[in-house]
Amino acid sequence: MILVITIVCIISTIISSSEVTTSKSLPQAIIIGVKKCGTRALLKFLSIHPATAVSSTEIHYFDSPQNFQFGLDWYRNQMPIAKNNQYLTIEKTPHYFIDRQTPARIAHLLPEVKLIVILRDPIIRAISDYVQIKNRHESYPTFDEFISMNNFTRWTPIKIGCYSLYLRRWLKYFPLERIHFVDGENLIQRPWQELESVQKFLNISNHIQQEHFYFNSHKRNFPCIKQPNGCLGSSKGRHHPSISEHTREKLKTLYSTCNQQLKELAQINFSWL
Ligand code: A3P
Repeated sequence: MILVITIVCIISTIISSSEVTTSKSLPQAIIIGVKKCGTRALLKFLSIHPATAVSSTEIHYFDSPQNFQFGLDWYRNQMPIAKNNQYLTIEKTPHYFIDRQTPARIAHLLPEVKLIVILRDPIIRAISDYVQIKNRHESYPTFDEFISMNNFTRWTPIKIGCYSLYLRRWLKYFPLERIHFVDGENLIQRPWQELESVQKFLNISNHIQQEHFYFNSHKRNFPCIKQPNGCLGSSKGRHHPSISEHTREKLKTLYSTCNQQLKELAQINFSWL
């Protein structure tokens, strides 16, 4: 009798554990960045596609020494449970883009994965990053004050906007065809256009269309999806402070070389480049 119960227990454990592993899979696509360029919006929009299962939180597997040591099974277990027709699992961790170790680690462990990078005008991205920090530290200097400091180019919100610096590292491990670049400015204006090329890149049907979106006048006219909770939360689409012409010119000069390098490396020609 005890033997029978033990066998039944073992079989049911095997069945239930195999159910878990088959319903969670390693990602076939990762949104690797860039922070404050619209990564959350892009993932939310992709989530309405019937073929996708998207992670609800940022996993930070490849860029965190602690998480990375947990191994690939841990990573798989962080993935969303995919229903039968959801054959494409997507996670997003924007910090991957700037992390030194991540490109080699992903290339080694997920050699077939597709990478998505969303980029926006680096000046707007820097202001967005600044607003997020300022929100937590009220006494923080103004944006203009930061840019007037001698070492302002070493300030992380400014450094990240030189996208070519980081992209170069990724291209040592991934061919350009495996990286798709999304125009974060156009994702705000005409999200369906960006989604059309993302869906093509991911080899899934062109399901997400213009009729899925509306522009919300209560949310600085950002696009939302026509469904309950179809807009992003209050931490996205914040009000941006105006900056001086002097600051803008200084940043334009700083980013012009990086933007030119980005155009060449990524072979893109977004309107703000
Ligand atoms: P702000 O809140 O500074 O405007 P990320 O998700 O990568 O952190 O990017 C956040 C930024 O996404 C927001 O920065 C906002 O400008 C932009 N964004 C793009 N599409 C959006 C949308 N549909 N709703 C809200 N914010 C959106």
